[in-house]
Amino acid sequence: MSKRILITGGCGFIGSWLVDRFINPLPPLTLQGLNPQIKDAYQRCLGDDASEYTIHVLDNLSTGTIKNISPISDNVIFTQADVRDAEFVDKAVEQCDMCYHLAASVGVQNILNNQVDMLSTNIEGTENVIKSCLKHNKLLILASTSEIYGDSGKNDILVETDDPCLGNPQVARWSYAYSKIADECLASAYHRELGLRVIICRFFNTIGPRQTGEYGMVLPKFISSAKAGEQITVFGDGKQSRCFCDVDDVTLRLRLFPYLEGHKFSTENEFSYPCWSGDPIGEVFNVGNIKGYTTINDLAQNIRAWTKSDSVIVHMKYDEVKRIYGAGFVDIKDRRPNTNKIDSLFPQIPYNNIKHLIKEMCK
Ligand SMILES: NC(=O)c1ccc[n+]([C@@H]2O[C@H](COP(=O)([O-])OP(=O)(O)OC[C@H]3O[C@@H](n4cnc5c(N)ncnc54)[C@H](O)[C@@H]3O)[C@@H](O)[C@H]2O)c1
Repeated sequence: MSKRILITGGCGFIGSWLVDRFINPLPPLTLQGLNPQIKDAYQRCLGDDASEYTIHVLDNLSTGTIKNISPISDNVIFTQADVRDAEFVDKAVEQCDMCYHLAASVGVQNILNNQVDMLSTNIEGTENVIKSCLKHNKLLILASTSEIYGDSGKNDILVETDDPCLGNPQVARWSYAYSKIADECLASAYHRELGLRVIICRFFNTIGPRQTGEYGMVLPKFISSAKAGEQITVFGDGKQSRCFCDVDDVTLRLRLFPYLEGHKFSTENEFSYPCWSGDPIGEVFNVGNIKGYTTINDLAQNIRAWTKSDSVIVHMKYDEVKRIYGAGFVDIKDRRPNTNKIDSLFPQIPYNNIKHLIKEMCK
């Protein structure tokens, strides 16, 4: 039976790798000792015939590019459209079997310079997708972000149940987080009150090829500066840290999620690993890699070494950063995901080595 998958933002960084996940075979997984429900989900997913899928990519190409999905294979359909076009979104959702909603305005520069556009894309666009998924009873996998946790100022490992510590909404920098919080609130309310089938994924600093530094993403910016022999600019003292996760790890989990719908996982089972209890529908999951932890100083130094660059690493004071990016700029000190909940669903799937990935990207 053929299946049609709608991926909004499918020409972007994560979206285009998700398209690839559907048109390429999955890696083999160790199934031994797995909870039977999860094993069954893996097996059904592994047994999928890629040729039975049609992937509909909907993207307005604002930050994404058609090159990311080129050459376009026979089972991929691309439409240049905007998620704020409710009528178009509704038709696309009606025709699909399920939807991944990744389209959003992202990147520090983009967010600070195009506030109104960002807010309408991230809130109005998402509400359109949510309403149509409810109307046509389609499963929705919704992209959220670790940004919604804000900045507690402490070195915290963030759990899905933590309260956000966000700044003043008058400060431009926070509006992206508030827009994604609005998305989560909408999705959760539509789930609780009206039965929307949704899974919310909070991504933590996803990295990999195709990510562009153009809109302020730190890793591609450092790599391109190092390769060009230009100075690598670290904000503040560089002691702030991030946890990077390979996009390959993210898309594999996104690909498997739909197969877990309706399963009730229980902590009371015969299996030895700790298991989160519940049905993934209506739930929020951190998606990240705790082992991908690094300070920004270490990141800059490693990238300079791995690109064999002579670039100078310069520390820019936050006053100067604000002069360039606007007074709304705020840097987060530390951000690490607790991934116990998602790891309970996918206990046998390892995370790729982040140092290895960054070294490869430096070649
Ligand atoms: N990359 C990360 O580290 C990260 C972290 C947290 C959350 N996220 C979330 O993951 C999703 C994908 O992010 P990404 O890193 O791939 O970014 P990206 O910019 O590469 O992808 C976003 C895509 O959405 C498209 N888009 C933007 N506005 C649109 C609109 N109005 N209508 C239709 N398409 C539109 C863009 O052209 C682009 O192709 C986003 O929802 C983002 O908030 C990403």
